[in-house]
Amino acid sequence: MKILVVGGGGREHTIIKKLKENKSVEEIFALPGNGGIAKDATCIPEIGATNIDAIVKFASENKIDYAVVAPDDPLVLGCVDALEAVGIPCFGPNKKAAIIEGSKVFSKDLMKKYGIPTAAYETFNDMNKALEYLETAPIPTVVKADGLALGKGVIIAETREAAKNAVISMMQDKQFGASGDNIVIEEFLTGPEVSVLSFTDGKTVVPMISSMDHKRAGDNDTGLNTGGMGTVAPNPYYTEEIAKECMEKIFIPTINAMNAEGRTFKGCLYFGLMLTPDGPKVIEYNCRFGDPETQVVLPLLESDLLTVMQAVTNETLSDTEVKFSSKNAACVIMASKGYPVSYEKGFEMTIPDEILPNVYVAGAKLSDGKLLTNGGRVLGVTAVADTLEDAIKASYAMVEKIHFDNAFYRHDIGAKALAANK
Ligand code: AMP
Ligand code: GLY
Repeated sequence: MKILVVGGGGREHTIIKKLKENKSVEEIFALPGNGGIAKDATCIPEIGATNIDAIVKFASENKIDYAVVAPDDPLVLGCVDALEAVGIPCFGPNKKAAIIEGSKVFSKDLMKKYGIPTAAYETFNDMNKALEYLETAPIPTVVKADGLALGKGVIIAETREAAKNAVISMMQDKQFGASGDNIVIEEFLTGPEVSVLSFTDGKTVVPMISSMDHKRAGDNDTGLNTGGMGTVAPNPYYTEEIAKECMEKIFIPTINAMNAEGRTFKGCLYFGLMLTPDGPKVIEYNCRFGDPETQVVLPLLESDLLTVMQAVTNETLSDTEVKFSSKNAACVIMASKGYPVSYEKGFEMTIPDEILPNVYVAGAKLSDGKLLTNGGRVLGVTAVADTLEDAIKASYAMVEKIHFDNAFYRHDIGAKALAANK
């Protein structure tokens, strides 16, 4: 089989390595891929992940048998619809279903309509009304741009002033472009966060192993929010009892709600949850695999990924085994100094060969046979072990052996999870 993977980060590298375990896979193309992924797939740097017309043309010309659309933007733009229109089966939701991530107003209204637990909220399309509401809203509060904003469209405002400034920068100064035309202002929740990725074919929902992201740039959750500086799986806060409650009150109701709205979701539905004193609540939905959650979740998947993905496409997930290992995984992200604000690129990377199978490259390019950094998040290193402690140790031991100038990483990935385990 010839497979196409749309995207070019650490998540896509993880998906590609896992897909390669299937013997029927002859060739994988990554659009655009990256210099690190090039070891495992044929990368086409000229075709970006949002260039839908070029993706469809490439897929048709190269007789692709199956496509996996991994990032949010092409999904929200309708990449799956466009590929399916030329007869290429895909993993990923269509445009109508991807709106669950593409519009926070949509997802909040969906949860309200179907009684799915989430933070109380108001939506606004008029800046003055939003500012007036903030005069009396409980503080801290959370201001969210409606549309995609590279994970930066969420402001936790500790003061009324900060909340108002967030509204003005989104709605008047258009910091996130049209994504800020509508906004959500919601209740500030507290509690441990859990990421649960799930496979769903619209009929059955199969949660994957839970995980914990580390979003802040610095140790002990200091510094700015990032795309994620490391992950562990499973998440110790996510007990069997809580998993059961989430299945009943969140996962199944969400699948049913999307069906009732005529927006059947097929693909990976990501539940960003907060375990509040009042029970688990949805912080956000993503219409795709999380990054860097995928880097700890898929290495623990014992079933064949391609088989599971095809079962999602063919709506036969209920007949398909999806088995996870009972081990633990930890992923440490190595980034370039200055991320997530500004950073230099082009530093030569050295990664010892014996570590390569555990490295998922997020931002790199090949130049004269050398691998150079080409992004803020550069790579993730995943270790799997019987205990979380050993997985963390093994991951950091590999990180120590990888070098590039200006590298930085958090030193406390998994520390909170270890403390919770005890
Ligand atoms: P998101 O981009 O929706 O994942 O939000 C980024 C982060 O903001 C989440 O992972 C949470 O840590 C935090 N967050 C979002 N919404 C809330 C909320 N209602 N209460 C507290 N924290 C929140
Ligand atoms: N790690 C969070 C996300 O993928 O959105």
